[in-house]
Amino acid sequence: MNALQQKPIGVFDSGVGGLTVVRALMERLPNENIIYFGDTARVPYGVKSRHTIETYTEQIVSFLLEHDVKALVIACNTIAAVAGQKVRQMAGAMPVLDVISAGATAALAVTRNQSIGVMATSTTVNSNAYARAIHAQNPQARILSQACPLLVPLVEEGWLDHEVTRLTVREYLKPLLAEDGVDTLVLGCTHYPLLKPLLKQEAPRVTLVDSAITTAEAAARALDAANLRNPNTTGADYRFYVSDIPLRFQTIGERFLGRSLEQLEMVSLG
Ligand code: DGL
Repeated sequence: MNALQQKPIGVFDSGVGGLTVVRALMERLPNENIIYFGDTARVPYGVKSRHTIETYTEQIVSFLLEHDVKALVIACNTIAAVAGQKVRQMAGAMPVLDVISAGATAALAVTRNQSIGVMATSTTVNSNAYARAIHAQNPQARILSQACPLLVPLVEEGWLDHEVTRLTVREYLKPLLAEDGVDTLVLGCTHYPLLKPLLKQEAPRVTLVDSAITTAEAAARALDAANLRNPNTTGADYRFYVSDIPLRFQTIGERFLGRSLEQLEMVSLG
């Protein structure tokens, strides 16, 4: 075992949503120490400009690099869409994984008719990042994107199986499921994996791609390739940093993480 292997993986997001990625990483890579940063004071990013998101991202990445991480995971689709390049510049030779690259590869692996739907925030859809990532691997693929700005607040409200959420999802799915529609649907936002049961009911013939799971898979491969996998089996250390602890944070965070949220600390950036 070498010292580098024992360093933590840095995972970050605009808020608590990235805990869906942490949850997938904990399951796929149980020996890995994780440091999470969620910018809860400035969430949502999905409606902000590229410039603002880049500035915030620079601050988050500097914070994680100061904590001596061995790899970075961009758990936020919106950050990956508009500031992925900036993160890679700052990380140098360190492995950087992101939900968009992983989601694009997974979608192409499962589609049969090469028609892929992407549900995401407005900023992610406007950036065209999923289409670029998918077309880089298969220029023939047909991509239909749908901005779903109402879903983040509905998930944060905990309305995972509520009639209002069902009707909203149905409306967003309409153009994607229209005739000759998509056979694969990428959940291009940290919050959407929590809507999987509802989405499965509303789009039963479509394969859902959960970028959280595919990102954890990609992280496992990247750590192996760089010989960075932590062989220590005595229990991993998890630390969670946020820029604010808003009302009901604990409840919402635990819903995303699927377990109790301990070792939580507030820090201010910028
Ligand atoms: N984390 C964001 C994403 O995955 C959703 C929340 C936000 O808008 O900041 O796109």
